[in-house]
Amino acid sequence: MEIRLAKKAGFCFGVKRAVDLAFESKQIEGTYTFGPIIHNDRVIAELKEQGVNPIDTLEGQDLKRLIIRSHGVAPTVYELAKKQDIDIVDATCPYVKKIHKLVQEHSQKGYAILIIGDCDHPEIQGISGWATAGCFIVKDKMACEMQNLPKKERTYLVVAQTTYKKEVVQEVVDYLKEQGYHFKFINTICNATKERQDEAAQMAQEVDAMLIIGSNFSSNTHKLYEVCQIYCKKSYCIAEASELDKSLLEGCERIGITAGASTPHSVIEEVIAKLKQLND
Ligand code: F3S
Repeated sequence: MEIRLAKKAGFCFGVKRAVDLAFESKQIEGTYTFGPIIHNDRVIAELKEQGVNPIDTLEGQDLKRLIIRSHGVAPTVYELAKKQDIDIVDATCPYVKKIHKLVQEHSQKGYAILIIGDCDHPEIQGISGWATAGCFIVKDKMACEMQNLPKKERTYLVVAQTTYKKEVVQEVVDYLKEQGYHFKFINTICNATKERQDEAAQMAQEVDAMLIIGSNFSSNTHKLYEVCQIYCKKSYCIAEASELDKSLLEGCERIGITAGASTPHSVIEEVIAKLKQLND
């Protein structure tokens, strides 16, 4: 069996920075992360052992320090933290910060804001908070058609979730063009995502089976899976080595491996070790 590991598998720059900041910040008692720092149970458990727990609200908590994860948050969270005299460790990915700034500045200039992404995703919830006069959120072209966005005399700023699939974003942009909307599109898809998806797509065409390692809750892991599925029907998403099922890889000579941006390297190594063990 030949095992190929994607060069871009695992932590992206923003996630690595957030995780490092969280581990460095643990010395102060009363340190919490706003939501789980990343979509990875192992990292969350390690932080818990060191006394850093995730919380969903600032209300009714005895907080000293709050770590904001790479997804970023709405300005209301900063305001509330300031009011409660909570020290902020801002691990928002700089690429997400850039979207906050774009959305805020364009809102203030009178642009309507259109965000292409998943409205339930924390990154999108954070970004939408920076739209001072509200915003539209669409997950794809069809949702955009259904929204029936007001057209008259409005110029839109169009941005996308950093981890979104480029094809879905392009379809929405093409639709807006066809329908004659006035808009300014700034491509905010993160390069780390694009590089991972392109590499995964290429690899999926060259192997018999693809393993995509990452949490079920990780949007970028799921997108990687979708991309691989197009080229390789035997694409499987697993969170860790224990989920490897030998029967699914029956008859496969070449196995490709990639991993979402929140998958630690140790998990990838364990999957490779298990694969080798199964092969023996
Ligand atoms: Fe940042 Fe891109 Fe990672 S936006 S968190 S470097 S996927």
